[in-house]
Amino acid sequence: MSQRTLVLLKPDAVRRGLTGEIISRIERKAGWQITALELRDLDTATLEQHYGEHKGKPFYEPLVAFMSSGPVVALIVEGERVIEGVRALAGPTDPIAAAPGSIRGDYGVIVRENLIHASDSEESAEREVKIFFPGRA
Ligand code: PPS
Repeated sequence: MSQRTLVLLKPDAVRRGLTGEIISRIERKAGWQITALELRDLDTATLEQHYGEHKGKPFYEPLVAFMSSGPVVALIVEGERVIEGVRALAGPTDPIAAAPGSIRGDYGVIVRENLIHASDSEESAEREVKIFFPGRA
């Protein structure tokens, strides 16, 4: 089933020069295509829209502060089972619990700086594409 997903390479990935490595892992999956890509700074309004469901959780304010601490790379990736697939490449939220071989397992240590966001469902993907690439909605 062909799908699309919204991926953010977080400010830690940009600062550490890991965007090429992460994009390369995505590009190597057979049949997946990057159909939009942009380096950008995120303002609070965009982050409130994106992470609105987490408002009130203890990690919300630190997460928004971190996501505004430097530019991110936003991508749309399209292809077979790409929603589940990019999340599998990323590994679980806590990098210490992520298996070696996954992006977070290979490069992350602390939960906040976990390198990558990827939509968790078709519904989230469509909502997030509209936020980051309104022209592609
Ligand atoms: S939940 O409550 O299970 O839905 O949360 P989860 O999916 O694990 O995480 C939602 C997003 O919040 C980020 N997160 C954190 N950021 C900073 N500090 C802490 N402690 C923290 N815990 C979770 C997590 O990386 C998710 O962001 P995205 O961008 O979706 O990866």
